[in-house]
Amino acid sequence: MTAATRIDTLPGIEAAVWAELAAALREKHHGWRLGVLATTDGEIGDARTIVLRDVERETRSLIFYTDARSPKVRQFDAHPLGTLVLWSPNLGWQLRLRVSLSQQSSGLAVSSRWARLKMTPAAQDYLSPLPPGSPLAHPSPERGTREFFAVVSAQVTAIDWLELHADGHRRALFDASGQRWLVP
Ligand SMILES: Cc1cc2nc3c(=O)[nH]c(=O)nc-3n(C[C@H](O)[C@H](O)[C@H](O)COP(=O)(O)O)c2cc1C
Repeated sequence: MTAATRIDTLPGIEAAVWAELAAALREKHHGWRLGVLATTDGEIGDARTIVLRDVERETRSLIFYTDARSPKVRQFDAHPLGTLVLWSPNLGWQLRLRVSLSQQSSGLAVSSRWARLKMTPAAQDYLSPLPPGSPLAHPSPERGTREFFAVVSAQVTAIDWLELHADGHRRALFDASGQRWLVP
C-alpha cells in the first residue's frame, strides 16, 4: 500500500494496520520494522528502539526480543502498561499502540525462537556475560556462551492511528470501546 491509497472505512483501516504490521516482518525497509517502545519505572518514562520480530493477530500481540536482564524488562515486570510508537514514511501512518507487556525466557516457544536466532549475527545481542547497561573498561563487550534471551509479547489494547496526507490528516482510535474518528 502507498500513501496515495486512502481507505475510507474504519474496519478497512484496522484490517490494513494489521496487514501492514505483517508486511513489516517481510519487508526490510518497512518503517514499522523498527518501533520506539515507551515504558515507565513508575516515576520516570523511558523509551528505546526495538525490532518487530513477529505479529500474532489472534491475540493482537506484537513480539520482540531482548536481553532478559535489561532494565526495560524490570520496568515492565513491575509496570506492564507501555506504548509502542511506529512511523511509516511510505504509508504516512503513525501508530501509537497501548500495549500490555510480558516476557518469557524459558519454554518451548522461547527455545524454538532461540534455535533459529542463534545461528545469526543477532545472537551476540543476547550473549553478553554482563547485563545491558553494565560499565565496561573497553568499548566492545565480550561474547559469552550462555544466552540471556527473552521473548517479549506486547498485547495491543488500543490503536491510535494517524495518517498524514496532503488532502488532510486523519486520525482514528480502535480500542475496547470500538472504533471512532478523532480530530488529528
Ligand atoms: C535500530 C535499533 C534496533 C534495536 N532493537 C532492539 C531490540 O529488538 N531489542 C532490544 O532489546 N534492544 C534493541 N535495541 C537497543 C535498545 O534500543 C536499547 O538501547 C537497549 O535494549 C537497552 O534498553 P533498556 O536499557 O531500556 O533495557 C535496538 C537499538 C537500535 C538502534
